[in-house]
Amino acid sequence: METLIKSGAQAIELGAELIKAGEVVAFPTETVYGLGGNALDPTCVSKIYAAKGRPADNPLIVHISKIEDIYPLVSEFSERNKRVVEKFMPGPITLLFPKSDIVPSSVTAGLKTVGIRMPKSEIAREFIEKAGVPIAAPSANASTRVSPTTALHVYEDMKGRIPLIIDGGDSEVGIESTVLDLTGDIPTILRPGAITPEMLAEVVGSVRTHKGEIISTAPAPGMKYKHYAPTVPMVVAKDMESLLAEYDSKSKNGVDVVALIRGQAAGMMGSRRFVNLGENDKEVCRNIYKTMRDIEKVCEYIICIDLGDNGLCKSVMNRVLKASGGKIV
Ligand code: TXA
Ligand code: MG
Repeated sequence: METLIKSGAQAIELGAELIKAGEVVAFPTETVYGLGGNALDPTCVSKIYAAKGRPADNPLIVHISKIEDIYPLVSEFSERNKRVVEKFMPGPITLLFPKSDIVPSSVTAGLKTVGIRMPKSEIAREFIEKAGVPIAAPSANASTRVSPTTALHVYEDMKGRIPLIIDGGDSEVGIESTVLDLTGDIPTILRPGAITPEMLAEVVGSVRTHKGEIISTAPAPGMKYKHYAPTVPMVVAKDMESLLAEYDSKSKNGVDVVALIRGQAAGMMGSRRFVNLGENDKEVCRNIYKTMRDIEKVCEYIICIDLGDNGLCKSVMNRVLKASGGKIV
């Protein structure tokens, strides 16, 4: 078989026709080049595995050109997953969903999940759109070889095995997509890529990396907002020395200050205004919000001593730091 390398609108037209005729066509994406065929046709899917020399137990990604093309391919689509899709598609990410019955089991290597990707590359999307079917595609290298990022790389591996390589120049990203499993409670990265755990955590709160670590930006949905803030500025003092220095410098400038301290430090306060939060952790915890509310009415600036990070005080400090916007003196 002769393998053509073509670019431009003609190449896309020809590629789409070949797909409709049940052939396998290599095409560019922003990550790496793919080796595509009709994902809904098991005969074509087996041609892809054969051209690549890929073991049948390694599933293929299904490529689409618009978001609504996901729906027929999946059996479940939650609100959370919709947010991930809307934020990152099109782009260098593959999302795993529970598969629907129309996806042949050879595409997913017998798994109950299907990997779906909408490339950012316009050539790729135009090709998929014109082909009129979802396109199953692994990277267009021969199995065990490096993924191709130019048409010539593809030619090295696929010469004589496929009829056409659509040339779209160099791949912009250059590594394969991030693979993210969306079927569990915590989305899990199976393959890292240009969409990072931090970017994903921004949208879903917590994400498990391919190494098993959990990356979180927002341990609970509300935690990312500035909560617990008094109506006057508040800072945390890392020790009594800093607290006294901050107090005196503000006072000198005519700012009405109140310090929040723990019992033992009362003797160091002299004539300065303060509230004793309590003699033990439980008291401190019980008093913190109430004290913040009371004193915001009678001062212009609050300085709270660092309460330490033992047991209960760790949780109190979590709130105090939020209230102070993380400002430490
Ligand atoms: O950037 C990319 O993802 C490129 C372009 C062409 O889209 N494609 C690509 O495909 O790298 P491939 O087949 O070389 O790598 C797909 C990876 C494999 O590690 C495969 O095991 C995994 O995704 N994968 C696909 N479907 C899966 C599924 N249902 N469950 C678990 N892993 C899956
Ligand atoms: Mg690959």
